[in-house]
Parts: sequence; structure tokens; C-alpha cells
Amino acid sequence: MLTISYSKKSLTAAPKKYCRIILTEASTEWHRLVECTDGSLEYRMGVGKWNDVTPRTFRTLLRSIIQAAKSHQLTAIALEITSTQFPRLEEHGVAWLATTITENILLAGYEFKTYKSKPAKQPALSDVLLCGELVTTATPDLKRGVVIARYVNQARDIANTTGEHMTPNALATAAKTLAMGTNVRTKILDEKAIKKEKLGLLEAVGKGAMNPPRLIVMEYEGGKKGTAPVVLIGKGVTFDTGGLNVKPAGSMHDMHLDMSGGAAVIAAICAAGALKIKQNIVAIIPAAENAISDRSMRAGDIVTSHTGKTVEILHTDAEGRLILADAYSYATKHFKPAMIIDVATLTGASLVALGQHASAILTKDDELGAILTALGEETGDYVWPLPLWDEYKQYLKSHRADVSNISTSFAKWGGCIEGATFLSFFAPTNIPWAHIDIAPRMDSIPSDKLAKGATGEPVRLLIAFLSQHQ
Ligand code: BES
Ligand code: MN
Ligand code: ZN
Repeated sequence: MLTISYSKKSLTAAPKKYCRIILTEASTEWHRLVECTDGSLEYRMGVGKWNDVTPRTFRTLLRSIIQAAKSHQLTAIALEITSTQFPRLEEHGVAWLATTITENILLAGYEFKTYKSKPAKQPALSDVLLCGELVTTATPDLKRGVVIARYVNQARDIANTTGEHMTPNALATAAKTLAMGTNVRTKILDEKAIKKEKLGLLEAVGKGAMNPPRLIVMEYEGGKKGTAPVVLIGKGVTFDTGGLNVKPAGSMHDMHLDMSGGAAVIAAICAAGALKIKQNIVAIIPAAENAISDRSMRAGDIVTSHTGKTVEILHTDAEGRLILADAYSYATKHFKPAMIIDVATLTGASLVALGQHASAILTKDDELGAILTALGEETGDYVWPLPLWDEYKQYLKSHRADVSNISTSFAKWGGCIEGATFLSFFAPTNIPWAHIDIAPRMDSIPSDKLAKGATGEPVRLLIAFLSQHQ
């Protein structure tokens, strides 16, 4: 495990066991590992012109320091970054700088080793010593980044666990475990309670699986008693085979990550508790395994949702929107939310639209959309808007039921918008709500400079949002 230690002294005073990271204005391709006359090591690394470093490239720079240290099998490194070193970061403030540094060091340090039978042969990078001025002026902000990264990495651990092991019930247990010591209360509805509560869509998605569904409800009261909570909803499909409309080979193997939205909101509410954010928050995670059996929901089945609206299941692989719809309805009925944000690996179409560099955000509330998009830029959990116009509703008007879960003509166009449009039939009309389709960010890509697998997005964005609205 990688830990961060702190020294108020300058980098040159770092103990000899640390390899000193020396950043230079050489090109980003340039780097040298140098042994000094006293036997200590220096890793010199080009970052380009100081003035060209932006928040976006700064996060990547921090991560490449960790990647480089790992590839040189360094076990301890020392690093000093000053508040005036990168002119284009100054407007973001010292608190942002400090939090960003520790966050990204720890995100890049993360590795998922649960299923490796043997420990790594080489000793791992285990100690990053941060030196100098920032340690004197911004220790609380450095520590805030450590807490946030810890929760992001917990979300990655949960998501990276196989569908066999991270069942709906195991997800509920993971939520309880993560909430321990944070003042977050966790309540679990099992399959009987789900039936009793008439969460028909959640029941339908889960009924084909041996592992029964759960509704995970987490509450944190950090705000004034009685103030309306922000409700977070996270898709918790613990494995998505597609159901009877089975997924083809090559599209199914990573569907244990289909509960990344659920993992993210669990981590976000627990982080809010740990950081003592002054806000009332509720997290609702509908958890189910979309499995294939003779008990699975069929294409053409008509299911009564929690709101009472009937849904024609035209495609069993469009299961995420079904369980989210019931969660929206449950949240509205039981919690009188101030607003709702849902996070879900909902559509492959969002990847078609955006590639793998940003999640999609869809909301009718322009202000909420703008705030979340701006916070995405600030935290690195990028989100980008797609429209949520009423024109798209016509394609989901079923002939046999009230709504269909995909376009009645089976048209593939605008699939990401279609998913959010389905939710709009179930979301409250009198409060702001936003849907974040995180399918593009479900799996890391090489330029992220993160371990392969879950990215833990958008935990940083959600924490930033919750912190802002205190
Ligand atoms: N979990 C998938 C979406 C997904 C696909 C996430 C690829 C990450 C990567 C979702 O449940 C799904 O299967 N969506 C379908 C919807 C379609 C049937 C309308 C899809 O995107 O193909
Ligand atoms: Mn699916
Ligand atoms: Zn899915």
C-alpha cells in the first residue's frame, strides 16, 4: 500500500532513502534516473514549460510520476511542488493544488491484487514524501485529498470484484462496512421487502438470478434537521449478462463493473460522512444481477413499476434504467429530496457519443448541469452534456403498456438520451434531477495513467458537489 508522509523541509533535505523527483522544463519525453555522489537517487523528469501545465495535464503529470517510480522499482520517492511553480494553476488556489496532489498520487498508486495468487516479486512503491512550503501552508487540504482518494479507491475495489463475489447481498455488506465509523446509517431491503414495497422493476430485473436483489438505502444527516436531502442514486447491477437478450462475446466479460454507479454513490456518501460535510444526504442503490434462467424476465413482459406505471420490457439488456426508475420513485416517496443525481453505467451509446474521456450528463435543470460540468473540470471527473428534450419521449410510448424500456421501433439512434428519457417518466417533476451516464468511464484507458479496471468516477465530482452546497 502506498502512503504519503510529509516534511516541512525542502526536497534537498529529504533522507537518503528517498529518490528525489526533480521536475524540469524539458519536454515530457525526457527523463533520467541519476545516482548522486552520496549514493542517493534523483529522477529528473521533463514536464514541458511550467506555463503550459493546466489542471488537466497537472493531474496526468502527478500520475506519471507515480507510474515512472513504479516502473523503476523505486520504493520511496520525495517530491516538492510549490504554489507558484505552475502559473496556470494559481487561480485555482492552494487548497485545490494540495488536494489535487495527494488525490492523484494515491489514485495512481492504487492496484487491484485480490485475485493474484502470488505477491509481486519486486517491492512496491510504498512511501511518497511531500516536502516544502505546501506542507506548512496546506496540510488540511493535503489530508482532505488523502481521504477522498481512499474512498475513490474503495469504490474501485468494490467495482473490480467479480460478479460471482460481489452479489447484490455482498454489495449491501460492502456498503455497511464502508459506512462504519462515518455516521452513515445503512438499511437493506431484501427480496421480500422489495416485493412488499412494490419495487416491481427491481424485482423483475433480479428474478432470473440465484442471488436475489437488494435495495440499499444509506442516510447521512450532516445538515440541519429536517432540511431536504440531496439524494444520490447508483446503478448496482452486479453482473449484466443482458438477460434473455444475451450480450455477445466480447461485450460481457467486464460487466462485473456494471455496479460502478452504485459503488460510486456508496463511496461518496461515506466520504461525506468522513469529511463531516454539512448536508443531509441519502444514497439509494438498487442492486440486482441481470441473469439468464427460466425465471428471467422475458422480452415482451409487462411489469408494474413502483410508481404504478406499467413498463413493456422490449429489451432485457436495458435493465439499468428499470431499476433506476424504481429508485427514483422510492426516493421521491420516502425522502422528499431537494434534488436527485443518479450515476449509472447505462448505455454503450454514451461511449459512441463521447469516447472514453467523459461521462454524459443529462438534465432539464441548466443550472445543475452547469455546476456539475464545471466541477467535473475542477476535479477531473469530466462530464459533458447531452440534451434531454421532450421530443424524445414519443419513441417510448408503448402500445401495450404505459412506457417501453427502449424505442418501440428498435431504432438505435440517441441511445444515451433514450436512457435518460426513460427515467424522465419516473423522476419527480418539481425538483431538479440529473442523470450521469458513466459507461464511458467505467474502465480506465492508458492515458488515464491508472491501473486497468474501475476508475472510481465520479466520486470526486460528487464529493465536490456535496461540499459546495453546504
Ligand atoms: N450495462 C450496459 C451498458 C454498458 C455497455 C456499460 C458497455 C458499459 C459498457 C447496459 O445495461 C446495457 O446493456 N445497455 C444496452 C441498452 C440497449 C439494449 C438499449 C446497450 O447499451 O447496448
Ligand atoms: Mn444491460
Ligand atoms: Zn447494465
